[in-house]
Amino acid sequence: AAGGHAKPLQKGNFSFEGPFGTFDQAELQRGYKVYREVCSSCHSMKLISFRNLGQKGGPFYDEEYKNPNDNPVVKQIASEFEVPEIDPETGDEVTRKATTSDRFPSPFRNDDAAKASNGGALPPDLSVMAKARKHGPDYIYSLLQGYDPEPVGLTVAPGQHYNVYFPGDLSASWKGDHHKVPPGGVLAMAAPLTEGRVTFDDGTPSTLKNQAKAVAAFITWTSEPHAIERKQTGIAVMLYLLIFFGITYMAYRQVWKGKH
Ligand code: HEM
Repeated sequence: AAGGHAKPLQKGNFSFEGPFGTFDQAELQRGYKVYREVCSSCHSMKLISFRNLGQKGGPFYDEEYKNPNDNPVVKQIASEFEVPEIDPETGDEVTRKATTSDRFPSPFRNDDAAKASNGGALPPDLSVMAKARKHGPDYIYSLLQGYDPEPVGLTVAPGQHYNVYFPGDLSASWKGDHHKVPPGGVLAMAAPLTEGRVTFDDGTPSTLKNQAKAVAAFITWTSEPHAIERKQTGIAVMLYLLIFFGITYMAYRQVWKGKH
């Protein structure tokens, strides 16, 4: 009964939090770079196509290119990927250069291949990961920073990694005081990020924190690319209602003035 707890999540204090929050475009670009250089070797992002990156609110949106298919940065990014295709003549599987309308190709040909490369565990698709987990942005941010040294007295199976923020119950693999079961759990993903892993083009220091925060922000954006527009529409609706109510109330006072 003492186990089954994870450490309280670290707060990312993200720019997109709160009713007036918006994504920080430079941070989304850094986050994309982390995904591209680190996470994409194991995790797919099946719901996202390259052109999404250049849509309004996206990491590479540019006012000059309202149509993201014309955005040269987006085109360049797409051209760095290969996508599988069936040759209509021979029926063979071939690859071709991706275009802006392709989705991100998966790192493995199927789930079995993905599991075989990851000690039997399937790296989940990250497209909507910020929605799939409770407090997603803070969770992803924390998880990537949660690889504390294994506590002495904890038995961790080969291929498993201790993480203080991963939900679990370690009491069965804990030899110490049963009132002091370590927080967190074990998962098949080894710490993907370390200090200096990804170099940021904008000069942001490549601390573990900055890398974790950027990629958590990026995954939050992929999980809900239109969240900010929706929030802003909501604010406009509230303002409209407020003014409408104010005018209605004044009209009411005017109409009933002096009448009892
Ligand atoms: C699981 C994120 C890199 C392999 C996960 C989960 C997240 C995540 C959010 C789900 C944890 C949960 O179930 O609550 C990331 C991010 C990465 C990254 C943001 C880049 C910074 C990698 C890499 C590999 C990998 C490079 C492979 C070498 C896995 C595996 C799992 C997993 C196998 C399943 C773990 C389990 O269920 O035991 N990752 N990951 N990840 N990841 Fe990653």
